[in-house]
Amino acid sequence: MSKGEILAGFLAPHPPHLVYGENPPQNEPRSEGGWEPLRWAYERARKSLEELKPDVLLVHSPHWITQVGHHFLGVRHLAGKSVDPIFPNLFRYTFELEVDVDLAEACCERAAQRGLTAKMMRNPKFRVDYGTITTLHMIRPQWDIPIVGLSANNSPYYLTTEEGLDEMDTLGKATREAIEKTGRRAVLLASNTLCHWHFQEEPTVPEDMSQEHPQSYDGYKWDMRIIELLRQGKTSEVFRLLPQFIDEAFAEVKSGAFTWMFAAMGYPELPGELHGYGTVIGTGNAVMEWNLVKAGLAASASGPAANGRESALYGST
Ligand SMILES: [Fe+2]
Repeated sequence: MSKGEILAGFLAPHPPHLVYGENPPQNEPRSEGGWEPLRWAYERARKSLEELKPDVLLVHSPHWITQVGHHFLGVRHLAGKSVDPIFPNLFRYTFELEVDVDLAEACCERAAQRGLTAKMMRNPKFRVDYGTITTLHMIRPQWDIPIVGLSANNSPYYLTTEEGLDEMDTLGKATREAIEKTGRRAVLLASNTLCHWHFQEEPTVPEDMSQEHPQSYDGYKWDMRIIELLRQGKTSEVFRLLPQFIDEAFAEVKSGAFTWMFAAMGYPELPGELHGYGTVIGTGNAVMEWNLVKAGLAASASGPAANGRESALYGST
Protein backbone atom coordinates (compact mmCIF):
# COMPACT_ATOMS: atom_id res chain seq x y z
CA MET A 1 0.00 0.00 0.00
CA SER A 2 1.28 3.47 -0.90
CA LYS A 3 1.62 6.06 1.80
CA GLY A 4 -1.40 8.35 1.85
CA GLU A 5 -1.22 12.10 1.62
CA ILE A 6 -3.16 15.34 1.82
CA LEU A 7 -3.73 16.78 -1.64
CA ALA A 8 -5.27 20.10 -0.64
CA GLY A 9 -7.09 22.01 2.04
CA PHE A 10 -10.02 24.35 1.52
CA LEU A 11 -11.53 27.01 3.72
CA ALA A 12 -15.12 26.06 2.97
CA PRO A 13 -17.72 27.96 5.05
CA HIS A 14 -21.22 26.67 5.61
CA PRO A 15 -23.91 29.37 5.54
CA PRO A 16 -27.02 27.35 4.60
CA HIS A 17 -28.08 30.38 2.53
CA LEU A 18 -25.70 29.20 -0.20
CA VAL A 19 -27.56 25.91 -0.59
CA TYR A 20 -30.88 27.78 -0.41
CA GLY A 21 -29.68 30.17 -3.14
CA GLU A 22 -28.72 27.28 -5.40
CA ASN A 23 -32.07 25.44 -5.22
CA PRO A 24 -30.77 21.84 -5.39
CA PRO A 25 -33.47 19.14 -5.44
CA GLN A 26 -32.43 17.91 -1.95
CA ASN A 27 -33.42 21.21 -0.27
CA GLU A 28 -37.13 21.86 0.30
CA PRO A 29 -37.29 25.68 0.43
CA ARG A 30 -37.13 27.49 -2.94
CA SER A 31 -35.32 30.79 -3.57
CA GLU A 32 -34.85 33.33 -6.32
CA GLY A 33 -31.07 33.01 -5.98
CA GLY A 34 -28.81 35.24 -3.93
CA TRP A 35 -25.20 35.23 -2.65
CA GLU A 36 -23.99 34.58 -6.22
CA PRO A 37 -20.35 35.68 -5.78
CA LEU A 38 -19.89 33.14 -2.97
CA ARG A 39 -21.69 30.42 -4.91
CA TRP A 40 -19.51 31.13 -7.96
CA ALA A 41 -16.47 30.94 -5.67
CA TYR A 42 -17.56 27.42 -4.75
CA GLU A 43 -17.95 26.60 -8.46
CA ARG A 44 -14.27 27.42 -8.96
CA ALA A 45 -13.35 25.30 -5.94
CA ARG A 46 -15.38 22.43 -7.37
CA LYS A 47 -13.27 22.49 -10.54
CA SER A 48 -10.05 22.20 -8.53
CA LEU A 49 -11.48 19.34 -6.50
CA GLU A 50 -12.50 17.56 -9.69
CA GLU A 51 -8.90 17.69 -10.94
CA LEU A 52 -7.52 16.39 -7.64
CA LYS A 53 -9.73 13.28 -7.68
CA PRO A 54 -9.37 12.53 -3.96
CA ASP A 55 -10.39 9.25 -2.32
CA VAL A 56 -12.00 11.03 0.58
CA LEU A 57 -13.15 14.42 1.88
CA LEU A 58 -12.61 15.19 5.58
CA VAL A 59 -14.75 17.93 7.08
CA HIS A 60 -14.65 19.48 10.54
CA SER A 61 -17.89 21.29 11.39
CA PRO A 62 -18.59 23.72 14.27
CA HIS A 63 -22.23 22.60 14.33
CA TRP A 64 -21.76 18.99 15.30
CA ILE A 65 -20.99 19.83 18.90
CA THR A 66 -19.73 17.12 21.22
CA GLN A 67 -19.05 18.34 24.72
CA VAL A 68 -16.91 15.37 25.69
CA GLY A 69 -14.14 14.68 23.23
CA HIS A 70 -13.67 14.67 19.47
CA HIS A 71 -16.09 12.40 17.63
CA PHE A 72 -15.96 10.84 14.15
CA LEU A 73 -18.82 9.63 11.96
CA GLY A 74 -18.59 5.85 12.16
CA VAL A 75 -21.53 4.50 10.13
CA ARG A 76 -20.82 3.51 6.54
CA HIS A 77 -24.07 4.83 5.05
CA LEU A 78 -26.03 7.72 6.54
CA ALA A 79 -29.28 9.19 5.22
CA GLY A 80 -31.96 11.52 6.55
CA LYS A 81 -33.01 15.13 6.71
CA SER A 82 -30.74 17.85 8.04
CA VAL A 83 -32.39 21.05 9.29
CA ASP A 84 -30.69 24.25 10.35
CA PRO A 85 -32.17 25.11 13.77
CA ILE A 86 -31.55 28.85 13.22
CA PHE A 87 -32.76 28.98 9.61
CA PRO A 88 -35.27 26.12 9.20
CA ASN A 89 -36.99 28.36 6.65
CA LEU A 90 -33.91 28.08 4.39
CA PHE A 91 -32.42 24.64 5.00
CA ARG A 92 -34.31 21.35 5.15
CA TYR A 93 -32.00 19.08 3.20
CA THR A 94 -32.45 15.38 2.43
CA PHE A 95 -28.97 13.88 2.57
CA GLU A 96 -27.42 10.55 1.73
CA LEU A 97 -23.70 9.96 2.11
CA GLU A 98 -21.00 7.33 2.42
CA VAL A 99 -18.46 7.42 5.24
CA ASP A 100 -14.89 6.15 4.97
CA VAL A 101 -15.17 4.35 8.31
CA ASP A 102 -11.71 2.79 8.12
CA LEU A 103 -10.07 6.20 7.86
CA ALA A 104 -12.38 7.61 10.54
CA GLU A 105 -11.36 4.81 12.89
CA ALA A 106 -7.70 5.44 12.14
CA CYS A 107 -8.17 9.16 12.92
CA CYS A 108 -9.92 8.29 16.18
CA GLU A 109 -7.19 5.85 17.17
CA ARG A 110 -4.38 8.30 16.42
CA ALA A 111 -6.15 11.11 18.27
CA ALA A 112 -6.48 8.87 21.34
CA GLN A 113 -2.83 7.87 21.09
CA ARG A 114 -1.93 11.55 21.18
CA GLY A 115 -3.89 11.99 24.39
CA LEU A 116 -7.19 13.41 23.11
CA THR A 117 -10.56 12.09 24.19
CA ALA A 118 -11.85 10.54 20.97
CA LYS A 119 -14.89 8.46 20.07
CA MET A 120 -16.62 6.87 17.08
CA MET A 121 -20.26 7.86 16.40
CA ARG A 122 -22.15 4.60 15.71
CA ASN A 123 -25.80 5.72 15.71
CA PRO A 124 -27.22 4.50 12.35
CA LYS A 125 -30.01 7.12 12.47
CA PHE A 126 -27.70 10.04 13.22
CA ARG A 127 -28.85 13.34 11.74
CA VAL A 128 -25.77 14.97 10.20
CA ASP A 129 -25.49 18.68 11.06
CA TYR A 130 -26.13 21.43 8.53
CA GLY A 131 -22.53 22.69 8.67
CA THR A 132 -21.15 19.37 7.45
CA ILE A 133 -23.88 19.02 4.83
CA THR A 134 -23.62 22.57 3.49
CA THR A 135 -19.84 22.46 3.10
CA LEU A 136 -19.97 19.07 1.39
CA HIS A 137 -22.84 20.04 -0.90
CA MET A 138 -21.17 23.28 -1.94
CA ILE A 139 -17.79 21.67 -2.70
CA ARG A 140 -19.09 18.42 -4.25
CA PRO A 141 -22.84 18.38 -4.97
CA GLN A 142 -22.55 14.99 -6.69
CA TRP A 143 -22.00 13.29 -3.28
CA ASP A 144 -19.85 10.63 -4.95
CA ILE A 145 -16.76 10.82 -2.74
CA PRO A 146 -16.71 9.15 0.70
CA ILE A 147 -16.34 11.45 3.64
CA VAL A 148 -15.01 11.59 7.18
CA GLY A 149 -16.93 13.90 9.52
CA LEU A 150 -15.28 15.32 12.65
CA SER A 151 -17.20 16.96 15.46
CA ALA A 152 -16.38 20.20 17.22
CA ASN A 153 -15.40 19.50 20.80
CA ASN A 154 -15.47 23.29 21.17
CA SER A 155 -12.66 23.15 23.69
CA PRO A 156 -11.61 26.72 22.73
CA TYR A 157 -14.92 27.91 24.20
CA TYR A 158 -14.40 26.50 27.66
CA LEU A 159 -10.61 26.39 27.82
CA THR A 160 -8.60 29.43 26.77
CA THR A 161 -8.54 30.02 23.02
CA GLU A 162 -4.86 29.06 22.94
CA GLU A 163 -5.39 25.79 24.87
CA GLY A 164 -8.38 24.86 22.73
CA LEU A 165 -6.58 25.56 19.48
CA ASP A 166 -3.63 23.57 20.77
CA GLU A 167 -5.97 20.56 20.96
CA MET A 168 -7.03 21.22 17.37
CA ASP A 169 -3.37 21.26 16.38
CA THR A 170 -3.01 17.81 17.94
CA LEU A 171 -6.16 16.61 16.17
CA GLY A 172 -4.75 17.85 12.86
CA LYS A 173 -1.49 15.99 13.34
CA ALA A 174 -3.40 12.82 14.28
CA THR A 175 -5.54 13.22 11.14
CA ARG A 176 -2.46 13.48 8.93
CA GLU A 177 -0.95 10.34 10.48
CA ALA A 178 -4.19 8.43 9.86
CA ILE A 179 -4.32 9.57 6.22
CA GLU A 180 -0.72 8.48 5.68
CA LYS A 181 -1.22 5.15 7.40
CA THR A 182 -4.37 4.22 5.47
CA GLY A 183 -2.99 5.23 2.07
CA ARG A 184 -5.74 7.72 1.32
CA ARG A 185 -5.42 10.67 -1.03
CA ALA A 186 -7.38 13.18 0.99
CA VAL A 187 -8.78 16.70 0.79
CA LEU A 188 -9.47 18.62 4.00
CA LEU A 189 -12.39 21.02 4.42
CA ALA A 190 -12.35 23.62 7.19
CA SER A 191 -15.99 24.60 7.55
CA ASN A 192 -15.50 28.06 9.05
CA THR A 193 -16.73 31.61 8.55
CA LEU A 194 -14.25 34.42 9.27
CA CYS A 195 -15.79 37.50 10.96
CA HIS A 196 -18.98 36.24 12.60
CA TRP A 197 -20.73 39.46 13.62
CA HIS A 198 -24.19 39.09 12.12
CA PHE A 199 -27.53 40.87 11.82
CA GLN A 200 -30.23 39.98 14.33
CA GLU A 201 -33.12 40.10 11.85
CA GLU A 202 -33.59 38.48 8.48
CA PRO A 203 -34.93 40.52 5.51
CA THR A 204 -38.49 39.70 4.44
CA VAL A 205 -37.01 38.15 1.30
CA PRO A 206 -33.86 36.43 2.63
CA GLU A 207 -32.18 36.50 -0.79
CA ASP A 208 -32.73 40.25 -1.27
CA MET A 209 -29.10 41.19 -1.86
CA SER A 210 -29.82 44.91 -1.47
CA GLN A 211 -29.87 44.07 2.27
CA GLU A 212 -26.57 42.16 2.32
CA HIS A 213 -23.33 43.80 3.48
CA PRO A 214 -20.76 43.40 6.26
CA GLN A 215 -22.36 43.82 9.68
CA SER A 216 -19.19 45.35 11.09
CA TYR A 217 -16.65 47.54 9.32
CA ASP A 218 -13.98 46.55 11.85
CA GLY A 219 -14.80 42.89 11.23
CA TYR A 220 -14.56 43.44 7.48
CA LYS A 221 -11.14 45.07 7.87
CA TRP A 222 -9.99 42.10 9.97
CA ASP A 223 -11.17 39.69 7.24
CA MET A 224 -9.27 41.60 4.57
CA ARG A 225 -6.13 41.65 6.70
CA ILE A 226 -6.26 37.89 7.32
CA ILE A 227 -7.12 37.05 3.70
CA GLU A 228 -4.30 39.22 2.38
CA LEU A 229 -1.82 37.45 4.67
CA LEU A 230 -3.18 34.07 3.56
CA ARG A 231 -2.90 35.10 -0.10
CA GLN A 232 0.74 35.96 0.53
CA GLY A 233 1.40 32.64 2.24
CA LYS A 234 2.22 34.28 5.57
CA THR A 235 0.79 31.40 7.56
CA SER A 236 2.85 31.87 10.73
CA GLU A 237 1.80 35.54 10.91
CA VAL A 238 -1.87 34.51 10.55
CA PHE A 239 -1.53 32.05 13.43
CA ARG A 240 0.26 34.68 15.54
CA LEU A 241 -2.71 37.00 15.01
CA LEU A 242 -5.41 34.32 15.25
CA PRO A 243 -6.37 34.77 18.96
CA GLN A 244 -6.72 38.55 18.50
CA PHE A 245 -8.70 38.06 15.26
CA ILE A 246 -10.99 35.63 17.07
CA ASP A 247 -11.57 38.03 19.96
CA GLU A 248 -12.12 41.18 17.91
CA ALA A 249 -14.03 39.74 14.94
CA PHE A 250 -15.90 37.00 16.85
CA ALA A 251 -14.37 34.76 14.18
CA GLU A 252 -15.82 31.27 13.78
CA VAL A 253 -12.30 29.88 13.27
CA LYS A 254 -12.34 29.74 17.07
CA SER A 255 -14.19 26.44 16.79
CA GLY A 256 -11.03 24.91 15.42
CA ALA A 257 -11.44 23.63 11.87
CA PHE A 258 -8.99 26.16 10.42
CA THR A 259 -6.28 25.19 12.91
CA TRP A 260 -7.01 21.48 12.45
CA MET A 261 -6.57 21.79 8.68
CA PHE A 262 -3.36 23.79 8.80
CA ALA A 263 -1.84 21.51 11.44
CA ALA A 264 -2.61 18.49 9.26
CA MET A 265 -0.97 20.19 6.26
CA GLY A 266 2.10 21.15 8.35
CA TYR A 267 1.38 24.91 8.32
CA PRO A 268 2.82 25.47 4.82
CA GLU A 269 3.90 29.03 4.05
CA LEU A 270 2.00 28.64 0.80
CA PRO A 271 -0.09 31.39 -0.86
CA GLY A 272 -3.74 30.45 -0.65
CA GLU A 273 -5.93 30.90 -3.71
CA LEU A 274 -8.95 33.05 -2.93
CA HIS A 275 -11.91 31.75 -4.94
CA GLY A 276 -14.19 34.44 -3.56
CA TYR A 277 -15.43 36.40 -0.55
CA GLY A 278 -18.90 37.51 0.44
CA THR A 279 -21.13 38.24 3.39
CA VAL A 280 -24.11 36.22 4.60
CA ILE A 281 -26.41 38.01 7.04
CA GLY A 282 -23.40 40.24 7.61
CA THR A 283 -20.79 37.54 8.39
CA GLY A 284 -17.58 37.29 6.35
CA ASN A 285 -17.04 34.18 4.26
CA ALA A 286 -14.04 33.26 2.11
CA VAL A 287 -13.65 30.21 -0.10
CA MET A 288 -9.90 29.55 -0.29
CA GLU A 289 -7.68 26.73 -1.47
CA TRP A 290 -4.21 25.49 -0.57
CA ASN A 291 -3.34 23.04 -3.33
CA LEU A 292 -0.38 20.95 -2.17
CA VAL A 293 -0.23 19.06 -5.48
CA LYS A 294 0.17 22.23 -7.56
CA ALA A 295 2.73 23.51 -5.06
CA GLY A 296 4.82 20.37 -5.39
CA LEU A 297 4.21 19.47 -1.74
CA ALA A 298 2.27 16.30 -2.61
CA ALA A 299 2.70 13.66 -5.29
CA SER A 300 0.85 14.04 -8.58
CA ALA A 301 -2.90 13.58 -8.26
CA SER A 302 -2.78 11.20 -11.22
CA GLY A 303 0.27 9.32 -9.98
CA PRO A 304 0.60 5.69 -8.99
CA ALA A 305 -0.41 6.50 -5.41
CA ALA A 306 -4.00 6.80 -6.62
CA ASN A 307 -6.33 4.21 -5.17
CA GLY A 308 -9.74 3.43 -6.58
CA ARG A 309 -12.50 5.01 -4.52
CA GLU A 310 -14.02 1.62 -4.03
CA SER A 311 -10.92 0.22 -2.44
CA ALA A 312 -10.62 3.23 -0.16
CA LEU A 313 -14.23 3.04 0.87
CA TYR A 314 -14.35 -0.65 1.57
CA GLY A 315 -11.08 -0.94 3.32
CA SER A 316 -8.99 -3.13 1.04
CA THR A 317 -6.06 -1.31 2.59
FE1 LIG B 1 -21.55 28.40 11.59
